[in-house]
Amino acid sequence: MKFTIKSEKPGAIKTGCVVLAVFEKRKLSAAASDFDNSSDGLLTDLMKLGDMDGKCGQTALVHFPRGAGCERVLLVGCGKQADFNDKRYCEAIVNAANALKSSGAKDATSYLAELDLTERDTYWKVRRLVESTLGTLYTTGELKSGKDKKSGHLRSMAINTPVDSEAAEAHNAIRDGMAINAGVELARMLGNLPANICTPSYLAERAEKLGKDHSKIKVNVLDEAAMKKLGMGALLSVARGSREPARLVCIEYRGGAKDMKPVALVGKGVTFDSGGISIKPSQAMDEMKFDMCGAASVLGTLKACAELRLPINVVGIIPTTENLPDGNASKPGDIVTSMSGQTIEVLNTDAEGRLILCDALTYCKKFDPEVVVDIATLTGACVIALGSHAAGLLGNDDELSRQLLAAGTYAGDRAWALPLWEDYQPQLDSNFADMANIGGREAGTITAACFLSRFAGDYRWAHLDIAGVAWKQGKEKGATGRPVPLLTQFLLDRCTRSD
Ligand code: BES
Ligand code: MN
Ligand code: ZN
Repeated sequence: MKFTIKSEKPGAIKTGCVVLAVFEKRKLSAAASDFDNSSDGLLTDLMKLGDMDGKCGQTALVHFPRGAGCERVLLVGCGKQADFNDKRYCEAIVNAANALKSSGAKDATSYLAELDLTERDTYWKVRRLVESTLGTLYTTGELKSGKDKKSGHLRSMAINTPVDSEAAEAHNAIRDGMAINAGVELARMLGNLPANICTPSYLAERAEKLGKDHSKIKVNVLDEAAMKKLGMGALLSVARGSREPARLVCIEYRGGAKDMKPVALVGKGVTFDSGGISIKPSQAMDEMKFDMCGAASVLGTLKACAELRLPINVVGIIPTTENLPDGNASKPGDIVTSMSGQTIEVLNTDAEGRLILCDALTYCKKFDPEVVVDIATLTGACVIALGSHAAGLLGNDDELSRQLLAAGTYAGDRAWALPLWEDYQPQLDSNFADMANIGGREAGTITAACFLSRFAGDYRWAHLDIAGVAWKQGKEKGATGRPVPLLTQFLLDRCTRSD
């Protein structure tokens, strides 16, 4: 897809489809009104017929509109003008993109970015238009034999912005939106791959490919022997039940000065989580192929960083393994020694994410990071607490947490903070080891973060539990690419911040 910036009246424009907003009730936006005038009241007539009231979710497509230069005009309902907000704006974009996807239009000209949003500028509106349009056109059918590309015919979109002076901002927004989308698409593609293709070695290969494609990215992959030498007993204990060897993938993006401390992103890469000996029920177990979405988001974010040529340093660290039952698998009650030296009683082999992350959190000190953010599909409890709208955020540094929350809100990829009070720590007490790997039924997301906090003592750290946001269930089942937008925004913000 190609995006361009234009500043032209909608009536005369030559394009496959003009996209215009209508508010409730039967109120044309400025551009729609302009179009109406030049087409002898076509849109007014259409509204009189009752085909478009301006309600949210409504769309109407008219072919060969009279008096106009375009082949089609698409009206998108945006609800009451007084209630118009960020959410409605994004919904209008998604509805428009879906209508375009099922039309034959090869190119379109959208006037949606001209709509007023009190707190948003042209940059934000254009970037959102680019990201949400591309996100909607994305399809998951790569492994279907029929090659039925449901993504439609749309190949380019011109975005109209009212003021010429904002063209530079709008061009930046297209560039950034395309780069973030490239990261999101990589994360979605990897997340959607089945576990018989997307193995730990496959993830390592994909990381190495990133290194080949971008000169500022260097990749180093540790095998099980190297991890054993480092004493990663927790990570390796999860891999015991699997025939696929575990990996620790380190990806360094060097865009900043040599002496600039990197941001470390640590992503959970369980390519399939059966639960191990504490086996999961079979209902929806296929979705545990998505248990590597934290890792996928790290790869996606690094790709976006490289495409944006961010002037900072970022290290991605991906502990990756399968979690399967086997005669050699970890058993409930087994005690393992982590790289940090702390011992862990594995009371539930299904709480495996924290076991691989804890060794990665210890290992990442080697890079002397400025801050560390781990990203993991860690607990079902987080899905219960926050549903699919926000990732759970916990950490040991309020400033870092605030920055991540703000980045998520700006990027339309929100997180919400949960407390990491000491009060929860005793839930991890064990009679036989330094700690247990589970903390009982209560506050499961928090006790998981409490466990991780014991390995993140020496640096500023935050944890994103993405169990609820990393993929969609049901008819739209598939990886979302979240939280690549949040993470990339967080890194973008660091490039302009003075502290
Ligand atoms: N990968 C799962 C978490 C998960 C479950 C994410 C369902 C999304 C949907 C994780 O490894 C896990 O199994 N966690 C356990 C922890 C429990 C044993 C303390 C859970 O949440 O049930
Ligand atoms: Mn598990
Ligand atoms: Zn898991």
